[in-house]
Amino acid sequence: GHPSCEVSFVLKFCTSRLPVPKLEDTVKRYLAAQKPLLDDDQYRNTERIAREFEKGVGRKLHRDLVEFDKKNKHTSYISDPWFDMYLCARDPVVLNFNPFISLNPDPKEAYNSQVVRATNLVVSSIKFLNSLNNELLRPDIYYVNPKWSQSRLFKKFIRLLPTSVSWYGAYMVNAYPLDMSQYKRLFNSSRIPKLNKDELFTNELGRHLLVMRNGHFYVFDVLDPDGNILHPSEIQAQLIYILQDADRLPEFSLCYLTTEDRNTWAAVRQQLLEAGNEDNLRKIDSAVFCLCLDNISPKDDTELSHCMLHGRGFNRWFDKSFSLIITSDGTAGVNFEHSWGDGVAVLRFVNEVYRNSTRHPAIVPHSSPAALSATKCERLEFKLNDSIQSAINAARMKFEETNEKISVKMFEFRKFGKEFLVKQKLSPDAVFQLACQITAYRQFGKIISSYEACSTAAFKHGRTETIRPTSIVTKQCSHAFVDERSKHSVAELRNMIDECSKYHRRLQLEAALGSWVTYIFRSCILIEAIRVVESLTEALLLSKLLIRH
Ligand SMILES: *[C@@H]1O[C@H](CO)[C@@H](O)[C@H](O)[C@H]1NC(C)=O
Ligand SMILES: *[C@@H]1O[C@H](CO)[C@@H](O)[C@H](O)[C@H]1NC(C)=O
Ligand SMILES: *[C@@H]1O[C@H](CO)[C@@H](O)[C@H](O)[C@H]1NC(C)=O
Repeated sequence: GHPSCEVSFVLKFCTSRLPVPKLEDTVKRYLAAQKPLLDDDQYRNTERIAREFEKGVGRKLHRDLVEFDKKNKHTSYISDPWFDMYLCARDPVVLNFNPFISLNPDPKEAYNSQVVRATNLVVSSIKFLNSLNNELLRPDIYYVNPKWSQSRLFKKFIRLLPTSVSWYGAYMVNAYPLDMSQYKRLFNSSRIPKLNKDELFTNELGRHLLVMRNGHFYVFDVLDPDGNILHPSEIQAQLIYILQDADRLPEFSLCYLTTEDRNTWAAVRQQLLEAGNEDNLRKIDSAVFCLCLDNISPKDDTELSHCMLHGRGFNRWFDKSFSLIITSDGTAGVNFEHSWGDGVAVLRFVNEVYRNSTRHPAIVPHSSPAALSATKCERLEFKLNDSIQSAINAARMKFEETNEKISVKMFEFRKFGKEFLVKQKLSPDAVFQLACQITAYRQFGKIISSYEACSTAAFKHGRTETIRPTSIVTKQCSHAFVDERSKHSVAELRNMIDECSKYHRRLQLEAALGSWVTYIFRSCILIEAIRVVESLTEALLLSKLLIRH
């Protein structure tokens, strides 16, 4: 708790660059993840190879990586390779990369009609875009200690912090503002297929919305040149018009091309450009986002998952940074392209838009739409010759064939959930991972490797780090539950779950914060002391003034 050592912490946290993990640590973690999967001989062999790597070629590679990192202080060492990993992949984005998030229904029954829900969600999305542009969005925060950080004092405190010292404040309360650089590609953006490596495109002046219905493309302006949002009743009127206009499927829907492998799609896109479709493609790529008004009512969660994950292929533009999908019965979801950003960014957008659209709906169920004349809605017509048409047909057949092989089953576990586990002082995520492993062990009779992504957005241009949840402790626990259940008392089993939860939490922190974890553990006592100091807010107000001047 010496003032001088506090200051040096501060400086380190302010830079907040993603630390390059020490090679020894990586090897140690790798071996710990291998141990539960291998028998003794295999493990000894793996250990030998890993140690050779650590002393040999690994050292040189590590030096190169550190060197590379030093030369690229403006970003993180992972950022470029991570973009490349996605953009160079030649597999179709749908099913291989694009995830989806589905939204709960609007709690007010009558607000769940397709047009009302779509209008309200579009308006809230554009509000989110505006607060992003005006930098009104609070920084995302990663909470190491959620209980403290949900207090009113904390919220007040973190809001008052200028960004330049927010890491300081964060350090004191153990919560980290996240890197928000990904948000610049949330709107107005699209992935463009190119031979061998795709590109990300962002149009800084996107003002129009792309709407898809029955495989047809429509665009209309939702923002005026000053950034004012179109009146909600006018948006509503446009959507009603589109639903009426797109009453049948087109003979060829271009959408299927975005389900192709990337090189095939890149070649067809070139043909499309040459055939005179450049303007239309530009309008798709530069739209603020894509709204898909689906002509389907999923009858259960399984059908809903299929709809949001891949749909029927003709009413999606899978390359768009994200698509807001609304079915006939007003069920909503978001499907997003993965190269530009990770779940954290999209999840925040979805949560906020959900909250805003349900608490402050722009239109009510029986509000009347505006007259149509004011704004123009354009339906995009494409010039397709024989070779483009057969490319679309080929894409459609491939897509339909692949989809037949996919089976999604969903069920809701109702015995307990997150709240119960938190009360039990267990990590819900750890328990979920453990459940997957016990299930796999019971089903297949062996311990399987597993992967879990963890956001590293606590650092500048961080993406995700891998957690390997399978460990010696989860292995023991799986054996205890499946093979030796009668041998253990409930208290013993409970203890094992505790151990798994603790171990998993450690893995999670190591992945999220890298080498900072050690600092955090060491500084816990200091932080506990600071927590009770109410005058903290004032102290930081002062520092805010100092920095201003
Ligand atoms: C997207 O378009 C809007 C509206 O023209 C603009 O205000 C905003 O700056 C753009 N955002 C990005 C990230 O380019
Ligand atoms: C279709 O148009 C593209 C681009 O102009 C061209 O490369 C291709 O040969 C055309 N195909 C046919 C069958 O005309
Ligand atoms: C949500 O809606 C209200 C009322 O329209 C608005 O004042 C508020 O700023 C919105 N929040 C966001 C994040 O857009």
